Amino acid sequence: MNKKIGIDKNVVNNSQPLAHLNNLYSIRRCTVHDLEGVIAVNERELPEDYPYFFYKNILDNFGDAFLVAVSPSNEIIGYIMWRVEKTPSLNSLRLIHKGHLVSIAVDSHHRRKGIATALLTYSMPIIKKYNICEYVLEVRVSNQPAINLYKKFNFQVHSIKKCYYRDGENAYYMIKKVS
Ligand SMILES: CC(C)(COP(=O)(O)OP(=O)(O)OC[C@H]1O[C@@H](n2cnc3c(N)ncnc32)[C@H](O)[C@@H]1OP(=O)(O)O)[C@@H](O)C(=O)NCCC(=O)NCCS
Repeated sequence: MNKKIGIDKNVVNNSQPLAHLNNLYSIRRCTVHDLEGVIAVNERELPEDYPYFFYKNILDNFGDAFLVAVSPSNEIIGYIMWRVEKTPSLNSLRLIHKGHLVSIAVDSHHRRKGIATALLTYSMPIIKKYNICEYVLEVRVSNQPAINLYKKFNFQVHSIKKCYYRDGENAYYMIKKVS
C-alpha cells in the first residue's frame, strides 16, 4: 500500500472520497456527472477512444470499481475502469470470472505522483469481490510506463496479442492471479 495515501473511513456515498493523496488529490467513485471529464482525459491521453455509451455501460454494471482522481480545483485528472468477463476455464467447461482492466489514464500534468498507483490500489479489491480468479489487461508493447506500473502490482506477461491495436501494434496480455 502506498504510504502517501490516507483512507477516509466514513464513506457514505459515491461522491465521497475513498482516499486523499498527498493532501491534494482525491480518489472517489465515478458518477454520471464525471463521465464528460473522464472522456476528456481518455481523449487527451490515449489513442483508444470509446463512445459515451461504452463508459455509461461500465458505470451501470461495474460502477463500484470505476474510480476517478480529482484535482484540488475539482477537475477529473485520472480514471480507472474495469469489467468482469466470464470465460471458459482451460481445463473444463466451467465458466470463470476475470477482472479486465478496460482503461486507466492520468492527465500528463499530474503524473508520477502516485495517482495511477492509488487508482489500482483502491479498485482492485473492489473488482475482486466479483469472485474473479485473475486480473487481466492488455498494454502496448511500447508503453513502458504502464508496463512498469503493472509489474509493480505483480502482473506478469502471459502472452503477446499480435496486431491488437488498430494501428497494428502488438499488446502484452498481462495477468495477475488472485491470491
Ligand atoms: C501509465 C500511467 C497511467 C501512470 O500514471 P501515474 O499516475 O504517472 O503513475 P504512478 O505515479 O502511480 O507511477 C507508478 C509506477 O509506474 C511506473 N511509471 C509511471 N510513469 C513512468 C514513466 N514515465 N517511466 C517509467 N515508469 C513509469 C513506475 O514504476 C512508477 O513507480 P515509481 O514512481 O515508484 O517509479 C500514465 O503514464 C498514463 O496515463 N499514461 C497514458 C495512458 C496509458 O498509457 N494508460 C495505460 C494503458 S494500458
